[in-house]
Amino acid sequence: MDNVEMEEFVNAVRERSDIYEVVSRYVPLTLKSGRFWACCPFHEEKTPSFTVTPDKGIFYCFGCHEGGNVFKFISLMEHITYFEAVKLQAERLGIKLPSRKKTSEEIKFENEKEALQKITSFARNFYHNCLMNSKDGEQGRKYLAARGITESVIKEFCLGFAPDSWDALTKKVKSQGFSEKQLVAAGLAVEKKGGNGVYDRLRGRVIIPISDIAGNAVAFGGRILVNAEDQPKYLNTPETEIFVKGKMLFGLDKSSRAIINANTAIVVEGYMDAISLYSVGFKNVVASLGTAFTEEHAKILSRYARRIIFCYDSDDAGQRATVRALPIMKNTGAEVYILIVPDGKDPDEFIRNHGKAAFKKLLDNVTPFLDFQFQYKLKHIDFSTLQGKMQVLHEILPLCNEIKDTLIQREYLKKFSSVLLLDENVILEEWRKISGRPPNEKKVAPKNFPKTKVSLISQAGVSIIKTLWHEPELLNYVNALVPMENFINIHREIINYIGKCYEEGRTPDTLNSARELSPEANLEISRIFGNTDPNEAQMLAFHDSIKIMQRVELEKRYQNIEREIQELSKVGDIENLNLKILNLIEIQKEITEL
Ligand code: CTP
Ligand code: MN
Repeated sequence: MDNVEMEEFVNAVRERSDIYEVVSRYVPLTLKSGRFWACCPFHEEKTPSFTVTPDKGIFYCFGCHEGGNVFKFISLMEHITYFEAVKLQAERLGIKLPSRKKTSEEIKFENEKEALQKITSFARNFYHNCLMNSKDGEQGRKYLAARGITESVIKEFCLGFAPDSWDALTKKVKSQGFSEKQLVAAGLAVEKKGGNGVYDRLRGRVIIPISDIAGNAVAFGGRILVNAEDQPKYLNTPETEIFVKGKMLFGLDKSSRAIINANTAIVVEGYMDAISLYSVGFKNVVASLGTAFTEEHAKILSRYARRIIFCYDSDDAGQRATVRALPIMKNTGAEVYILIVPDGKDPDEFIRNHGKAAFKKLLDNVTPFLDFQFQYKLKHIDFSTLQGKMQVLHEILPLCNEIKDTLIQREYLKKFSSVLLLDENVILEEWRKISGRPPNEKKVAPKNFPKTKVSLISQAGVSIIKTLWHEPELLNYVNALVPMENFINIHREIINYIGKCYEEGRTPDTLNSARELSPEANLEISRIFGNTDPNEAQMLAFHDSIKIMQRVELEKRYQNIEREIQELSKVGDIENLNLKILNLIEIQKEITEL
């Protein structure tokens, strides 16, 4: 196509495009004083500053100053080039791209694809009809009814039933003029051994059609009616010219609108999970169909929503799959959350057992990406030892890089510190090493050491000694990270004793320590090891740590205000001075309450 032709084509597409219609596919628009308004899809905002002026064919955001015509909008939304946006919009409008003459090979390929599409559409109707209207289909109807799947859901997803026959579908499709070869290419039939004829791939199973984004059936999953050892629960048609697993999200053809409106997509593992969620009203759901979640999946989802909630099975396999999927999704810049199903194997089971409202509650309390990662590490790494703590840190800190907000950094720092029972300064040091960009240091290490710090150090000391006593070889590690003078005196004495034992090749024990150490150090040792219930001890330490950390924060604020008061009194600003003094009294009260 030459330039003139091209220009005519682009103009034709633009003229027939309604920017209002296009934009509202992605964001809901509200009419106000002659313009349409929405919250801007290109930057984070709570009050709308994004506008569409249909008669001019343009959009403009007063917040981030992004603006342009319909193609610019599509290219930004879909992360594609301007020309790709033109093509996409042309496709949506059914305008043919003026093109050079296709080679005969290209034509053949396109025809084959078209034929495949026809066969799969035919098969979908055939299976659906079997389920709804045939005697064979009765088992399928019973099965679905037992799973609580209503007729309207069956119709909406066009569920079907494959009769328990070797050639029911093959016969029907052939009678429509398609060849066996085409049936095999569509994955619906399998060649018999010896090459004489074909047989139906899916038999005696409930059929779940998989559709492309336009709603065309491209593949099928078949669920067995009664779980059996020697047969797969699901048998799926294989990848074909029109079905590439890693690029397909089950349900997206139905859920895309709801995903856009909620700016949120829920990703589940199984067909039945997606159908279940959808049918009780959580329509913004897709399933990744038991395959690994791919970059392609992530890219597709990121075009529709900013928030992505993973809700995989609660078993180990499901959780492992979650951990693998998370960074792939995160890399697109999405906000990633995890919904952990607390009871039952998967979201479908949970909804069947506990109902819609209970699931809504879970949805309202999803776990943010970083918290999930932290919890997951804590579950899989023994963090009772210092080595374990450091391992958790080394695995979690690289994931913290993207947190820009210092307050949020601070929250996580506190969380890590209180759960791992590590001094914030130790974590800071690691953070600095790993990311080269530590969180706001001034906030964490104030010049004036708050009084409570001593007990914090003392707690960290206890937990370090607990570990070192049994694993004295870790002493070098501790020495490398924490200068000895930072321990309280008694702890230093005990740690030196452990070091001495280690050098002399003996294990530290309370009998010898009674002879070799001061009464205070021995008292501390019996305090550290006297408690026989480590869980209780850990919990106590945990809760104490939280209080300590709250107090550290308050004391810091107290000190800051004190400084401000000094400044204000120097300049004689009485009004502000009084305000600050009130502040000070309030904080004092909070500290006392703690
Ligand atoms: N899957 C598959 N083949 C199997 C098992 C699973 O293709 N033999 C895919 C299916 O897409 C299935 C998904 O992996 O939906 C998740 O598997 P599972 O959790 O076992 O499926 P559910 O949807 O929970 O199945 P059901 O509730 O019917 O038991
Ligand atoms: Mn299930």
